[in-house]
Amino acid sequence: MVKSMAAKHAIWPRENDIIFNLSERAQRAEKVTGKDNVINATIGALMDDDGKLITMESVYKEYKELPNGEIGAYASLAGQPDYIESVKKIFFREYMPDAHIRVVASPGGSGAIKLALWNYTNIGDEILTSDWFWSPYVSIAEEIDRKVVTYKLFNEGNSFNLTSFKENFLRIADKQERIFTIINTPGHNPTGYSVSDDEWDEILDLSKEVAKDESKKIMIFVDAAYIDFAGDDKVIRKFFRKFSNLPENILVMVGFSMSKGFTAYGMRMGAVIGITSDENIAEEFHYSCVHSCRANWSNCNRGAMAILSNIVKDQEKFNLYEEEKKIYKEMLSVRAKAFVDESEKIGLEILPYKAGFFISIPCDNPKELCEELTKDNVYTIPLKMGLRFAVCAVSESKCKIAPKIIKNAMEYLESKKVATSEV
Ligand SMILES: Cc1ncc(COP(=O)(O)O)c(C=O)c1O
Repeated sequence: MVKSMAAKHAIWPRENDIIFNLSERAQRAEKVTGKDNVINATIGALMDDDGKLITMESVYKEYKELPNGEIGAYASLAGQPDYIESVKKIFFREYMPDAHIRVVASPGGSGAIKLALWNYTNIGDEILTSDWFWSPYVSIAEEIDRKVVTYKLFNEGNSFNLTSFKENFLRIADKQERIFTIINTPGHNPTGYSVSDDEWDEILDLSKEVAKDESKKIMIFVDAAYIDFAGDDKVIRKFFRKFSNLPENILVMVGFSMSKGFTAYGMRMGAVIGITSDENIAEEFHYSCVHSCRANWSNCNRGAMAILSNIVKDQEKFNLYEEEKKIYKEMLSVRAKAFVDESEKIGLEILPYKAGFFISIPCDNPKELCEELTKDNVYTIPLKMGLRFAVCAVSESKCKIAPKIIKNAMEYLESKKVATSEV
């Protein structure tokens, strides 16, 4: 008999994280063949053209100048007061919704998702997100006995599939008291899609319609992990104003993260932001989340909070940070454009990319295609319905040649399939 000590609910399939696995394989290939000959599009972080992690000087200089006590001391459970104010300021900018807003610190955007899911759903509840999604949503949900269900993200015109969203939203509303949906925008992982302002109107109109039934509780979780690399800082924030004066039974929550915007992935700093028209619901949000913080990880990374607060409070530091970020934003959009333009030119189908770290290529055989591509030293991530290519981690010149290699591999596998079926 296989020996086991873990409690039943803690036993999961013994799988290694496929992303880290493929990334290691890519790194081994780089050692054998040389970096120039390998395209490592597995990594979800900004890398320079030589494959080195980009770390913003304006961020790390600030960190290194902090007094030890500002790094080593415990922080307040909800987050340092100046961090809370700074998150509000940098996140909403000119588009603060007219609402009661509370911010609770969390370890990255992942922690924010956990806080929201735990506190605003019941055991067995279905959580709605799109069919292209960041897979840890499932890990976070299933660990606490919730289930992720999906709608089709795209319609035939390759924009937000409101019909599918509505169908699923209403189906859940029919059977559950709580409707919790995660919308990862702008710069969705893995497709690079951003929900447009008009599409937001449609999502909110539907939510308001369902909210007329006062027994329903609607939670919209906006996973904004990529907001800092999702286009013009002002334009992409306009939709926040739409969260003003919503019905009391609609609670909008936002996952804020310092991972991408501050190139601080390992510092594990973020926040969950609650937006509601009711003050009591805002207070409840604060206390529910703070209780969970205490119960799960206690307080968060004080040094990381200080970096953000110091940069936001000091206009000169803020300008330096913004200027530095602009360089990397530009780098990212040049790379993405190279990939998108070349795909169009050679006829490789990709999903509608607007911004962000990743581009997705739909296909029927992602694992097989991913494996085939490794023979050409191209490393991507296989998803359920396609491949994810991390433009954030690949130079412009490699982004330009990758589509052709992918298309060739697809055609090769297709021809092999036809040949086999003819035998
Ligand atoms: C879609 C999405 N949401 C949230 C996160 C959270 O990241 P972190 O916990 O590092 O802030 C990530 C990170 O890769 C992500 O891709």
